[in-house]
Amino acid sequence: MPECRSRRKKVTAPALASMKGEKRIVMVTAYDYPTGILADEAGVDAILVGDSLGMVVLGYDSTLPVTMEDMLRHTAAVARAKPCALLVADMPFLSYEPSTRDAVLNAGAFARVGADAVKLEGGSEMADVVRAIVRAGIPVMGHIGLTPQRAARLGGYRRMGKTKAEAETLIQDARALEEAGVFSIVIEFTKADVARRITEAVSVPTICIGSGPHCDGQVLVLHDIIGLSTFTPPFAKRYADAAGLIRKAIEEFAREVREGSFPGPEHYK
Ligand code: KIV
Repeated sequence: MPECRSRRKKVTAPALASMKGEKRIVMVTAYDYPTGILADEAGVDAILVGDSLGMVVLGYDSTLPVTMEDMLRHTAAVARAKPCALLVADMPFLSYEPSTRDAVLNAGAFARVGADAVKLEGGSEMADVVRAIVRAGIPVMGHIGLTPQRAARLGGYRRMGKTKAEAETLIQDARALEEAGVFSIVIEFTKADVARRITEAVSVPTICIGSGPHCDGQVLVLHDIIGLSTFTPPFAKRYADAAGLIRKAIEEFAREVREGSFPGPEHYK
């Protein structure tokens, strides 16, 4: 097991799975080396290099343009932070759907740059893909509910599980993923009651985003937590005003340059 940056024990996929019923799981996204360090120092259990980076840091309108090259570069940057938290890399659109061979090779590329696990979107239709990646020795996190890579098919970014049929399908999807070998499942933007039923139906932990409190853990996008995103979904909570802090620092720098007080003697002597 590679050494990790803080004194705590490295979180492995089986260790995270064993937290169900014992301790609530905390996961945040990080997309680069400094935020990887900060998230790990804050003591989270898992860090997700989410394909949300497409919208959050690359300025795209959706996650669809995000490529393997993008994800590998950002995953490698976070891996260089040597987090003790489990490092999960999101498989981008079309990196796992065309064939199980593509899926295994792309999951392997993430493992080679330092990811401890990969996450992919989809339910029972992805069971074969999950099985193939797990067979190659790479832990897989599932992702059901609102799956942004399939937003066009789902009818947009909407809360899932509102009808009885949709709720039953989600529970079946979770069971199929568990049977295929995932070690945990992200449940995004479903009714809270549906997330509770899924959490009770599977033996692997569920990690929720916008799906209420009855899950085994919660995940949020880092830039939403710190107040650095241009759009914050209603289910996210902002804990800081990083945008305000950054703007103020830049304005102060600009003012000091213009008035001639920066650099001061302490900066060049
Ligand atoms: O890409 C991402 O950040 C995600 C989370 C919303 C779970 O998949």
